[in-house]
Amino acid sequence: MIAHPEMSRSKAEADTKPRRFSPGAIAYDGAIPASYRAGRALSSQTADAWRVAIQPFVRPARGSAILDLGSGTGRFARLLAHAVGAHVVGAEPSRGMLTLAARDQPPEGVVYVAASAESLPFRPQVFDVAWLSHVFHHVRDRPACARELRRVLRVGGCVLLRGTFGDRLDGFPTLFRFFPGARDICAELPTVTDAVAVFEREGFTSEAVRRVEQRTCGSLADFAARTRLRADTALALLSDREFAEGQATLEAAAAREQGPSPVVETLDLLVYRKSGGSAPTARRRSAPEVR
Ligand SMILES: C[S@@+](CC[C@H](N)C(=O)[O-])C[C@H]1O[C@@H](n2cnc3c(N)ncnc32)[C@H](O)[C@@H]1O
Repeated sequence: MIAHPEMSRSKAEADTKPRRFSPGAIAYDGAIPASYRAGRALSSQTADAWRVAIQPFVRPARGSAILDLGSGTGRFARLLAHAVGAHVVGAEPSRGMLTLAARDQPPEGVVYVAASAESLPFRPQVFDVAWLSHVFHHVRDRPACARELRRVLRVGGCVLLRGTFGDRLDGFPTLFRFFPGARDICAELPTVTDAVAVFEREGFTSEAVRRVEQRTCGSLADFAARTRLRADTALALLSDREFAEGQATLEAAAAREQGPSPVVETLDLLVYRKSGGSAPTARRRSAPEVR
């Protein structure tokens, strides 16, 4: 049985009981960094899908600056620098993730700093875009995060949240087929409604909610190699027994695969714009555009 290294609970408990999701449930300073790169690698199709999705909100402009908040190993910092030609600052609280990000020579225009969402070490109004990929649910004080983002963004700048939301769980059919308990864990993540409320309360305008389809893996065999690493919140929190059963069923299905069946997942992209005026007076309660 593959035991997740983050589990410091008794063996019997880790074996049988899933852990509940809450901010801080995943120790990014523990063993996750070592497996994160391989366990969350961006396929070229996934990178393309996100490049296209963010294009309307991130216009390339000389001297523009992007904050990649919770930048992890820097997989999106590199992509953003490449795609947009902007200066990218990756801000990340985990020393382990930062060390990995810095291990490869960061491309031109990318720097990493140690920082948490609730207290950003930047002057006001220095960024045009803030990008948070699979980060918002990990933040303990989300209103403080939205407040800080409003402070460091220029007027007209936007926050892009990429992620999985508790009320949008139809995008992971393959994951939930083999690991049904992962659905219950994802249901504990903040919802789109929660995120909209947090950002609108801090004076942002909700601009869009887009569904983005990504080809996560080219085959079940690739998917099995990825899930084996448990570098994913839901898989890390499953009980060891449920993870092992799901993984065994997935490996068996992968072995029977005749031709490669790609694993397609649908995530959400939420966009919030900082309009002029002082927070938090600029409140808008109308629903954002949903596609
Ligand atoms: C699932 S990883 C995503 C990393 C990266 N954005 C990506 O998509 O590959 C979540 C990241 O959020 C970071 N994180 C957790 N709490 C945070 C906080 N309060 N402020 C900023 N980042 C945080 C973690 O350390 C971790 O690197």
